[in-house]
Amino acid sequence: MNQSPQINDYLFRYKSYIFVKSMTTTEHIDSLQSFEIQDSDIFLVTYPKSGTIWAQQIIISICELGGGLNEYPNNLEQMPWLEYTEGREDYSLRPSPCLFSSHLTPALMPLGLKAKMAKYAMHNPKDNIISYYHIFKKHIYGSLTLSETLYIYTLAGSSWFDHIRKWHSKKDQYNIRFLTYEDMILVRSVTKICSFLGKNLSEADVEQVVEKATFKTMKKDQKANYEFVSKDMISGNFMRKGNIDDWKNIFTVAQSQRVDQLLQEKISDRSLKFIWE
Ligand code: A3P
Repeated sequence: MNQSPQINDYLFRYKSYIFVKSMTTTEHIDSLQSFEIQDSDIFLVTYPKSGTIWAQQIIISICELGGGLNEYPNNLEQMPWLEYTEGREDYSLRPSPCLFSSHLTPALMPLGLKAKMAKYAMHNPKDNIISYYHIFKKHIYGSLTLSETLYIYTLAGSSWFDHIRKWHSKKDQYNIRFLTYEDMILVRSVTKICSFLGKNLSEADVEQVVEKATFKTMKKDQKANYEFVSKDMISGNFMRKGNIDDWKNIFTVAQSQRVDQLLQEKISDRSLKFIWE
């Protein structure tokens, strides 16, 4: 078993991935390999702080308008994370289609996911790390500064670079659509997601999805803004700023160069062209 020592009171490493102790167990992660997936299930896979809850709101709104979606009290219960055990129910008892979210790498995902619907969302690493730092600074980063955080990016999950590289390298093995935070809200992008999900929405419906997914609307939407998540877990708000390129106001030249250097070193596959480059 590929299990190395505990990292701190809050985290543990298992199969090259760093998990939050209170949220899952090694047995549960192993059990996911045989997790049964129905044809109509939809998976959203993201690197943390890449617009996960935003993409959830878009997908849930599209599916609601398409009809046939069972309603749950909030987006977390509507589109739960596969890897977390807290509040977990027996998802096999849920009527189809079931919606799931995950931050896992491909090797940890259910074997049956291949050929099923999955979407992958990513985010410029420079904005991503700022968002990441703010949400977890209390527990994971402790007293580290943003600059120090950059050198260990990332402590929880897997590294941004590994995550992107691994999912991109598997793109032909999954029925997957890659999305970026940077182009998520455009009507064009909602239309593309509809077509990927096989949902035929009218122009008015698409506009409604876009409106429900604006930062302003989502921040007030109690089902979608994740204010229901315990503050024992996180330091900041999920709906923090919602800006693109804020890193330009925050990073020093040296910090920005550090991420550029990491990108060059760790993502050698140049077919992976990023929207923000
Ligand atoms: P910031 O911290 O930069 O503001 P995740 O859902 O993966 O945790 O990602 C969180 C990031 O997505 C946060 O970024 C949050 O503000 C942003 N976000 C969430 N909903 C959004 C929306 N409707 N429009 C723009 N950004 C949104």
